Amino acid sequence: MFMNFWYVAAESRELTDKPLHAKMLGFEFVLFRDSKGKAYCLSNVCVHRGASLANGKVKGDCVECPYHGWQFQGDGACTKIPSLGKDGKIPARAKVDSYPIEEKYGLVFCFLGDLPESERPPIIDMPEYADPAWRTTVQAFGWRADWQRAMENSLDPAHTEFVHPSMGYQGERADYDVPDLAVHEHVWGVGTMTTFVSPDLPHEKMKGLKGAGQMEAGSTTWGVGQSVTKLHFSPIAWAHQYTFTTPVDRHHIKRWFLQARNFRTQPEMDTPVNERNNIVMLQDKVVVERLAPFCTPESSTEEVLVKSDLVIVSFRDKLKEFERRGWRIDLEAMAAAADGKAFAIPSPARRFAKGWAIDAAPTVTPHA
Ligand code: FES
Ligand SMILES: [Fe+2]
Repeated sequence: MFMNFWYVAAESRELTDKPLHAKMLGFEFVLFRDSKGKAYCLSNVCVHRGASLANGKVKGDCVECPYHGWQFQGDGACTKIPSLGKDGKIPARAKVDSYPIEEKYGLVFCFLGDLPESERPPIIDMPEYADPAWRTTVQAFGWRADWQRAMENSLDPAHTEFVHPSMGYQGERADYDVPDLAVHEHVWGVGTMTTFVSPDLPHEKMKGLKGAGQMEAGSTTWGVGQSVTKLHFSPIAWAHQYTFTTPVDRHHIKRWFLQARNFRTQPEMDTPVNERNNIVMLQDKVVVERLAPFCTPESSTEEVLVKSDLVIVSFRDKLKEFERRGWRIDLEAMAAAADGKAFAIPSPARRFAKGWAIDAAPTVTPHA
């Protein structure tokens, strides 16, 4: 798992006037809104005696710890220690990590890392979201799966034929193959588009159209957990699916799935469209949750790869690049630490302020 990327913690509508607990990358966080409605994300471990801030209350612009009432404001600073009385001096180390937050596309994105703003990998651009020619729906899914296995499934052009009967023929067509992939790369990801024969979908924009049944599709990643899958059912009927995958821990992920479509854009079509998406996601889930080994193997010598896996190999190369930047969390070092020892993902403030009660999570040392 990697720090220094934006991860979705929740939908904006879920963040109300109460603290909201979120687990991401195996770490605990508390999200809350201040009195003006601005959202914040803090490390959830109270630096007094380790209580869960998410079990506390929002008081004014602060979250109040449920154990002894210490209050922490949005930048992570403790502003009140009730036991010290009203003139008590607050120790400088009484602070928790505060993570940059952005609300976009109805989602709450948290930047889990310490990079300054100018160096942060971006949130994927979704131009369809504000475009009246498109209609967007949002769905959330929980899988018991490895985040990288799930991302590789999103990228995989050779699984559609077999996993998704509505888009393929289960290998029954004698002329089936995956054309040579043209993998494109950008600074934060990789992707490909490919053309394949797909059953017609019963939709007015597709009827009688030259090219119906000839589908173009492909996915591109942004960072480690964001991707867009473009499904072009015909030259004019398109669905663009933005998937935001947050590792909850090593064995669980949450996926927010935003699908924009430029056909059947009437709001009453949301329900049937979402039902179809539920089926398609379930088809992927049952495969990905049962992969062995559970996580993507460290070495590709433990698998047999073929040319249709090229985009997956490229994604793994991209992850190696992120690892060389020092962003991969060292899960083994964390597991070897004293039982139950608390770590925090370092926040940007750690770059210029010292004196943190909780150690920063170790990262994998980049290879030369
Ligand atoms: S543990 Fe949070 S105030 Fe004591
Ligand atoms: Fe799939």
